[in-house]
Amino acid sequence: MNREDFDMLKQDIIYFDNSATTFKPKSVLNAINDYYTSYTANAHRGDYKISLKVDSLYEGVRDKVKDFINAKSSKEIVFTSGTTDSLNRTVFGFAKHNLKPGDEVIITKTEHASNVLPWLELADEIGIKIKYAPLDKNLKLQASDLLKEITPKTKIVSIAHITNTIGDIRNLKEIGGRLKDKNIYFVVDAAQSAGHRKIDVQDMNIDFLAFSGHKMCGPTGIGVLYGKEELLEKTKPINYGGGMNNFFEGDGSREYRSIPTLFEAGTQNIEGVIGLGTAVDYLNRVGFDKIEEHEKELRSYLIEELSKIENIEILNKESEAGNVLFNIKDVFPQDTAIYLDNYNICVRAGNHCAKLLKDELGIKNTCRISLYLYNTKEEIDKLIQVLKNSKNIFDVVI
Ligand code: ALA
Repeated sequence: MNREDFDMLKQDIIYFDNSATTFKPKSVLNAINDYYTSYTANAHRGDYKISLKVDSLYEGVRDKVKDFINAKSSKEIVFTSGTTDSLNRTVFGFAKHNLKPGDEVIITKTEHASNVLPWLELADEIGIKIKYAPLDKNLKLQASDLLKEITPKTKIVSIAHITNTIGDIRNLKEIGGRLKDKNIYFVVDAAQSAGHRKIDVQDMNIDFLAFSGHKMCGPTGIGVLYGKEELLEKTKPINYGGGMNNFFEGDGSREYRSIPTLFEAGTQNIEGVIGLGTAVDYLNRVGFDKIEEHEKELRSYLIEELSKIENIEILNKESEAGNVLFNIKDVFPQDTAIYLDNYNICVRAGNHCAKLLKDELGIKNTCRISLYLYNTKEEIDKLIQVLKNSKNIFDVVI
């Protein structure tokens, strides 16, 4: 659907790597171009018309993002460089200053690197304990299993909304509600969900939410950290510099600005913010109901067709999002990806930055197809055709 909005689709290419990044619609590219050709100026620093225009658009996107995730206030929206940055700020800006040795943080083994490594670093730094909630036989996280892991020492649960491998969709509303009753902070990595499913931070009782623009039709290098106002008030900046201070003096006295500007030191990614705002408009226009329905339909079709091919093993048949992991019997996944590329079909092969998954899956590397709104059944048919002919894979790869 909406294929005409994406210039990248004019090429002879089948793009199935949407969990890595998505294509950008023309409206996003035009908005970025417009900023550079009609009103280039810095934000929050100028007293002339084009600079004031930048200020108003920049803050307008903050309001737009607030509505997009139903935050209570625009003060709760911080622009970052992406999900990794947002999660690192949560860990080193908030958790580091609000947890004590022995406190527990629960994550899972299907988390992506940026929801594992910062926590492991913090554990080394301040002596917190990282626990992994068990996964069910399909490697999904069930809310009841997660909740059983909670002890009086549990202070934070930090999980992806949708995992970038298994593609299970976590029941945030149920988990968030239970964590609220127990005064446990709820951190959500929405990298794989913000462009695919509606998120309501109030309804889901999310304390911190991280996501990236480039996985939801926006530009790279821009992301969002949402934090509940009272928690952002307890968060320290990671970066100090221009734009986040009111004054500083030779005697070392200084005063910083209030949230969210406190967290936006230095010249910000203005084109990124403008592009993100346009991507939010775009997704709102298309509608999450339609995106979800389309992805579900494509996913079922893909699983059905892949299952008919004898030498293919699908590793996450039971999950709900648009990611499908598979391997061709006795073929290294990277070779499969190179083979498919020969037919201009883009998939990702490897561990997908979720390096703990192998402990659960028993397989280190897989091929991943990740679908989005502009993919079609015809594209799946072409993929299936090429995979059916994969007996000649080594003629192509070698
Ligand atoms: N996290 C991105 C992916 O899953 C890069 O491909």
